[in-house]
Amino acid sequence: MKVRVGINGYGTIGKRVADAVLMQRDMILAGVTKTKPNFEARVAKQKGIRVYAASADRLQAFSDAGMEVHGTLEDLLREVDIIVDCTPGKVGATYKPLYEKYKVKAIFQGGEKHDVAGFSFNAVCNYDGALGRDLVRVVSCNTTGLCRSLYAVDKAFGIRKARAVLIRRGADPSEDKKGPINSILPDPVGIPSHHGPDIQKVLPNIDITTSAFAVPTTLMHIHWLNLDLQKDATESEIVSILSKYARIKVVPASEGIDSTAQVIEYARDLGRRRYDMPELVIFKESIKSFGREIYLTQAVHQESIVVPENIDAIRAMTNLCNTAEESMRMTDESLGLGGT
Ligand SMILES: NC(=O)c1ccc[n+]([C@@H]2O[C@H](COP(=O)([O-])OP(=O)(O)OC[C@H]3O[C@@H](n4cnc5c(N)ncnc54)[C@H](OP(=O)(O)O)[C@@H]3O)[C@@H](O)[C@H]2O)c1
Repeated sequence: MKVRVGINGYGTIGKRVADAVLMQRDMILAGVTKTKPNFEARVAKQKGIRVYAASADRLQAFSDAGMEVHGTLEDLLREVDIIVDCTPGKVGATYKPLYEKYKVKAIFQGGEKHDVAGFSFNAVCNYDGALGRDLVRVVSCNTTGLCRSLYAVDKAFGIRKARAVLIRRGADPSEDKKGPINSILPDPVGIPSHHGPDIQKVLPNIDITTSAFAVPTTLMHIHWLNLDLQKDATESEIVSILSKYARIKVVPASEGIDSTAQVIEYARDLGRRRYDMPELVIFKESIKSFGREIYLTQAVHQESIVVPENIDAIRAMTNLCNTAEESMRMTDESLGLGGT
């Protein structure tokens, strides 16, 4: 059986989820929506992807631009089993009644509130909870990165307390109207940032406080973690545990991978499409142990880290695959994740 997938919102995340769906043997990409007949719509059509206008009042713009579309979002919803909402934050929630009207399952992204779906998802943490569900929210890029490392460390050693500082990219590479340009912006000034409570939607037993700062860079986020464990862990034990997960890459600064710029250069050298790095990157030499207290620094490629999670959410919700391990294996293999 193949599941028919639609994508509403073809931007940073939507494009990548669309590409990933095309690479799955058990999924068909029925189409994507666009509000504007711009180069992104044209390139999608050149790739053979069906493009739909996001709403009927956008049809004229496509017709004026001489760009043929297959109909509107409502036509796409008639064609699909599941829609992946990749519209800008808070816009997704406004589409929920339409998805319900057409009785299609829907995945929302981290820019929506937990309550929109009532279930916040990360594959390694809570795949089973998404089995057969109609609505799921894939958590944000920062929360996804933290979920991956916290889950791995907690499973092996138990986490008594987690404290994290997030240094967030100010904008994505294509966002030329956003900042900050010359400032370090506490985001927010108060503690905690929203990430801690968001992680607890997925990993309710983790005691975590987070603080976040936005800075003038577009490549990746950096997280600095301080974890208080239930039992002693050596640095080599931590490296060995983290290295078991295909979606975590422990990289050696000794080889020169010692900044977000070098991680991206590494992704380029690996021949990754769009220089994506969907794995959580942990700098090996940043892992420091003082018995039960450990430190580590990790980097998150915000544009791609949630892509494999969306693919697994599709499998869980449509019961294509009933175990996290099998779904993640299929996703990772198709996207070429893991390895060195
Ligand atoms: N970028 C990240 O770092 C990141 C990481 C993880 C999660 N997320 C979350 O993923 C979601 C999407 O973010 P994004 O970064 O991909 O946003 P984005 O790059 O701005 O893409 C959103 C796309 O939705 C389309 N759109 C705008 N208004 C729409 C509407 N009313 N109906 C249908 N489509 C509409 C726009 O395309 P056109 O107008 O050109 O058609 C736009 O390209 C958000 O919830 C965000 O919080 C983002």
